[in-house]
Amino acid sequence: MDNVFWWNGKAVVPQEGSFITLNPDKTITVPDSPIIPFVVGDGIGPEITPEMIKVVNAAVEKQYKGSKKIYWVEVLAGDKAEEKGLDRMPSETLELLKQSVVSIKGPLGTPVGKGGKSLNAVLRQSMDFYSAIRPVYYMGQPSPIPNPERVDVTVFRENSDDVYMAIEYMAGTEGARKVREFFIKEMGVSEGAIPEDAGVTVKPMSEFKTKRHVRKAFRYALENGKKHIAIAGKGNIMKATEGAFLNWAFEVADEEEFKRKIIKEGEPGEGQARIYKVITDQMLMQLVLKPEYYDVIITQNLNGDYISDLASALVGGPGFVPSGNIGDGYALFESTHGTANDIAGKGLANPLSIILSGAMMLEYLGWKEASQLIYTAVKDVISQKKGTPDIASGFRKQGFDATELSTTQFGDEIANRIKNL
Ligand code: NAI
Repeated sequence: MDNVFWWNGKAVVPQEGSFITLNPDKTITVPDSPIIPFVVGDGIGPEITPEMIKVVNAAVEKQYKGSKKIYWVEVLAGDKAEEKGLDRMPSETLELLKQSVVSIKGPLGTPVGKGGKSLNAVLRQSMDFYSAIRPVYYMGQPSPIPNPERVDVTVFRENSDDVYMAIEYMAGTEGARKVREFFIKEMGVSEGAIPEDAGVTVKPMSEFKTKRHVRKAFRYALENGKKHIAIAGKGNIMKATEGAFLNWAFEVADEEEFKRKIIKEGEPGEGQARIYKVITDQMLMQLVLKPEYYDVIITQNLNGDYISDLASALVGGPGFVPSGNIGDGYALFESTHGTANDIAGKGLANPLSIILSGAMMLEYLGWKEASQLIYTAVKDVISQKKGTPDIASGFRKQGFDATELSTTQFGDEIANRIKNL
């Protein structure tokens, strides 16, 4: 592939490519030859990421016949960076990701016992990717529920607030003692509410962070014709945080941009969507029983973590679901599963999560026709009961004959299907 530039002592930025630019209003301008940095990732990353590049290239070539072309630039992170004697998240990588505005990555492992922040957390914070977006839809793969075609829901998880801020005081430490003393002495909290042997985690939730996230989700719903928007949280219990989140979300609906478009009552008409408040636990149950009720779910960081994994399970697990981390223009797309070290290097990995993340990235660039080619080709190949062992064995359990393909063969099938569409 002549448009893939592998790391060679440093990131190689080709002359032919141009950087995507971030405009003052936080929209992006995409040239016909955008430079897109990629991180192959750890574990199965080196197997699945090249398949994504192959498939995305095939779709762009098929649709635009050379008038548009991505220039892929490898940047290092994780194990591969460490092998070259660099930090696990080199500053060169962060700089190029930022300069390029839009990028994509495979899974990165968090070495156990080595300390340090998760690389994913470093990435999310460095470009303030405050919304994690996971569209969950069915493409014909084996699924654990009846009629999985009912599932078509996009989870918007707030990514910069909540208990993930890691403001934590372990039981028995000076920090925990001070926090306890403050609450009992200054705030009138009863001694039994924070026992002496308790650890404490702080759960901040801000109006600014909530509202910017909600605005992004509302725009997505309106642009994509999604009619029902559930705002999920446990506001009945955590009034100052999740309760406030629900109220702030409703306030955003009153803003000039959304008035008359995001409605609170009645059936949404053309160009409209309706918002509902839902309680997370009850919603999780409904999501399994009646997934067709949900088009968009807007939620906080911790709830979003649970909800997006449960939603993914409805269509067979995170291996079938893409994701995007999006801030004010900056976007990083990534596979949703981990490094799957148990199967790494064996050609068994399912590359769909990162391939569909590549399709999601094309949509973000405004190259929607090319992303549609990927969706069509993936559905076509799966409908022939062909796929990596996880897919083939799922079909066999359902009593079908299935063809088992390696990671590369599966990528080839999808790319060839695109060429023949
Ligand atoms: P995992 O997702 O790597 O593996 C869980 C199970 O799912 C394993 O049996 C694995 O073989 C299977 N699996 C995962 N992806 C698959 C694929 N594409 N095809 C076929 N089978 C697949 O989760 P685990 O073991 O909890 O995490 C391993 C490492 O990955 C950890 O270091 C974790 O921190 C990291 N991780 C990174 C993420 C990221 O970069 N966004 C997300 C989740 C975990």
